[in-house]
Amino acid sequence: MLAIHPSFQRQGLGQALLWALLKSACDRQLERSTLEVRDSNLAAVSLYKKFGFKEAGRRKRYYEDTGEDALVMWHSSLGKPEFERYLAVEKVQMCDRLYEKKWDLAIDSFEL
Ligand SMILES: CC(C)(COP(=O)(O)OP(=O)(O)OC[C@H]1O[C@@H](n2cnc3c(N)ncnc32)[C@H](O)[C@@H]1OP(=O)(O)O)[C@@H](O)C(=O)NCCC(=O)NCCS
Repeated sequence: MLAIHPSFQRQGLGQALLWALLKSACDRQLERSTLEVRDSNLAAVSLYKKFGFKEAGRRKRYYEDTGEDALVMWHSSLGKPEFERYLAVEKVQMCDRLYEKKWDLAIDSFEL
């Protein structure tokens, strides 16, 4: 489950959480990651695509409340050097953005 309180969305916090999860996965030599997301959740889908997740399939009528499909997304390049480089570049941009929004995130504590 990944969520940011509506009052604090669009400030870079969601991507900071996802960054930390993926960095932790890389540090543990994990190679792949998968998730499900509502088809209509454009904000989340955009966030996941930004980090390299790709749509791999659908679970039809997966969400009981609305009958909506779930998109199944996979990231299969966690162990690759280019993804480690992407995370390093993204960290700098992410910290700059958080700083502009007056957040001081102890992101280094995620680097286990
Ligand atoms: C999805 C969610 C976690 C994003 O958190 P956030 O802190 O608002 O996102 P960020 O500010 O870090 O934005 C990171 C990226 O997410 C995407 N994004 C976030 N909000 C978006 C929106 N309203 N529309 C389109 N893209 C959006 C963009 O790709 C954005 O990158 P950009 O700023 O360079 O364009 C947040 O919208 C949320 O908590 N939603 C409700 C819970 C939820 O749907 N969780 C996911 C379940 S699978």
